[in-house]
Amino acid sequence: MEIKSIEEYHEMSLVASKMIIDRVKKYPNIKLGLATGGTPEGTYQQLIKDYHENRTSYQGITTFNLDEYIGLAEEDSNSYHYYMDNHLFDHIDINKENTFIPKGDNLNPAEECERYELLLQEKGGVDLQILGIGSNGHIGFNEPGSSFKSRTHLVELTPATREANARFFPSIEDVPKQAITMGIATIMKSKEILLLISGDSKKEAVKRLLSGKVSEDFPASILNQHPNVTILIDQAAAGSMGTYPMLLMK
Ligand code: F6R
Repeated sequence: MEIKSIEEYHEMSLVASKMIIDRVKKYPNIKLGLATGGTPEGTYQQLIKDYHENRTSYQGITTFNLDEYIGLAEEDSNSYHYYMDNHLFDHIDINKENTFIPKGDNLNPAEECERYELLLQEKGGVDLQILGIGSNGHIGFNEPGSSFKSRTHLVELTPATREANARFFPSIEDVPKQAITMGIATIMKSKEILLLISGDSKKEAVKRLLSGKVSEDFPASILNQHPNVTILIDQAAAGSMGTYPMLLMK
């Protein structure tokens, strides 16, 4: 696990985007796992900026998103499908046929989970997975208590997660109660993982993650057992864990 503490969010986004661009240039058919939420927005902005300036091409890549809310159709402005179009896909030369996100409006979520997991396997899995982290330690929407053996599955979102995400919705009542998420075992199959952590609401999560204790109560802790993880932490999230510049190797 390589942990880099970075002074502030903008710089974190730059470092993350450079890492992604580097991989995409080296492996033009790379399969990327993508996250949504506030944290990767800056990274996606940097990818778009680089695309305009340097024309890095995404034509050959395939993407798989971590998760999607149940009940939201693709065109719903709160769906993660809409988020991806809006924050990235509509602004680069990606072939949308090669972008995959669970379908939140499939009336049979169990079937959708199975379809998505099989699709991931058929395509050979994710090469580089981008992750954010919930303040409760969730990765994807694998809430505390999720089995480390889980594959793509239907989850009940915790009140804490619904509250944290209410900022993107008109009101908390509008935040869906369920989602489809890649499972922990699905995420752990990725060849490489890049975890982005920003903001002081993540301070406790950083402490627990870096304590090295692995437990299903804190889903992100499993990353301590992945052979190829880079974690970028901004100063607000690192808190008392370290002052800039800090570079820890675990
Ligand atoms: C999003 C996802 C979530 C978020 C996490 C952090 O696709 O899987 O695990 O990464 O909830 O969200 P932000 O970045 O909004 O704090």
